[in-house]
Amino acid sequence: MATATPAATSTVDLGPAAALSCRECGTRFPLGPSFACLECFGPLEIAYDYSDHGAAELRARIEAGPASIWRYAPLLPVPADVATKPNLNPGWTPLVEADRLGKELGFTARLHVKDDSGNPTHSFKDRVVACAIEAARAFDFTTLSCSSTGNLAGAVGAAAARAGLRSCVFIPHDLEHAKIVMAAVYGGDLVGIEGNYDDVNRFCSELIGDPAGEGWGFVNVNLRPYYGEGSKTLAFEICEQLGWRLPEQIVIPIASGSQLTKIDKGLRELIELGLVEDRPYRIFGAQATGCSPVAEAFKAGRDVIRPVKPDTIAKSLAIGNPADGPYVLDIARRTGGAVEDVTDAEVVEAIRLLARTEGIFAETAGGVTIGVLKKLVESGQLDPDKETVAINTGDGLKTLDAAAGAGLTAVIRPSLESFRAAGLV
Ligand SMILES: Cc1ncc(COP(=O)(O)O)c(C=O)c1O
Ligand SMILES: [Zn+2]
Repeated sequence: MATATPAATSTVDLGPAAALSCRECGTRFPLGPSFACLECFGPLEIAYDYSDHGAAELRARIEAGPASIWRYAPLLPVPADVATKPNLNPGWTPLVEADRLGKELGFTARLHVKDDSGNPTHSFKDRVVACAIEAARAFDFTTLSCSSTGNLAGAVGAAAARAGLRSCVFIPHDLEHAKIVMAAVYGGDLVGIEGNYDDVNRFCSELIGDPAGEGWGFVNVNLRPYYGEGSKTLAFEICEQLGWRLPEQIVIPIASGSQLTKIDKGLRELIELGLVEDRPYRIFGAQATGCSPVAEAFKAGRDVIRPVKPDTIAKSLAIGNPADGPYVLDIARRTGGAVEDVTDAEVVEAIRLLARTEGIFAETAGGVTIGVLKKLVESGQLDPDKETVAINTGDGLKTLDAAAGAGLTAVIRPSLESFRAAGLV
């Protein structure tokens, strides 16, 4: 099994998490810092042993919980006392009723934006890191690490600082300035790799197998099964904020595809636990045209994802060989959704559209999501008569250059005469 020291153990307290289970062949392994199946190299995910409370009791427990992802602790691989530990407590972000955007896009049903830009480091990555760090604590790792397209690096740096762990994170060296500053300011080590994200990820896999990486928890590599579960909280929150109802359609940006895959897992768990009524839902994936291997495979009806060399302003989504790509295809097809892509110009236009209609300033990933939402409605793939949620995963302040076309309306002298002359009244 792919492991890193310290050794795997099944006696750790990670709440209801019972084992690691292979997504492909179902083989079970003890909980540990492992991510690939010994039998078939399939990805491992968490299998749960939920205590037998009825749906009504579980729902009441969640509703009485903290206004953070820890309200869902009974459904996550975290110890029951997780909220008392030093952590950033992300989550419980607003589900915004985006009526003005909906009207502009021709919606007759409700459109919502799940705005995750308000997390502690301003992206949804705080959710996944918060879960991974509990696993890192359980396995006695001393250094927290990751391969990152930018947001994850900042989230790891901040969470490690709060938890009192060392951090050392790896990014492509040419990311947006704001993301580099955010990843560095928390005082951990930040290493720029001369290459793209896929090169960074390959390097991290090498480091895990080397004595130099001993005692290191890579949140999205050897802790990936735990990390991924953090994204389920987006599904939980959306349903709870809708009054314990499934949305009919969800639009989700894709980099590795982990978030989309785990949101689907979260929705299915809510159905299985009886927390929401079962009914069809459709999941749509969003990519930038300059890095759209999953959209390409979807449109061509292929099962195989052909890796690409990314070239897009949406750097946080620039993963040319997405690990969960095949699962994204399965989910889009199974739920009657789709995977679509938009050009960089459409991304910029969508950032401005969301800001102008709803007062939400999204980073480029959010521009991809809203741009794809618009394109899916226009092409008839997404039904504007069905309740829809689009996820804004990051804050526009991190990718200011993309919105650089916005600026002063006028420069005037401080006089009414000058103001009138500017033609604004
Ligand atoms: C802002 C933002 N949105 C979405 C994603 C996609 O995440 P995933 O790799 O889970 O598909 C990322 C990944 O880095 C991101 O930074
Ligand atoms: Zn397997």
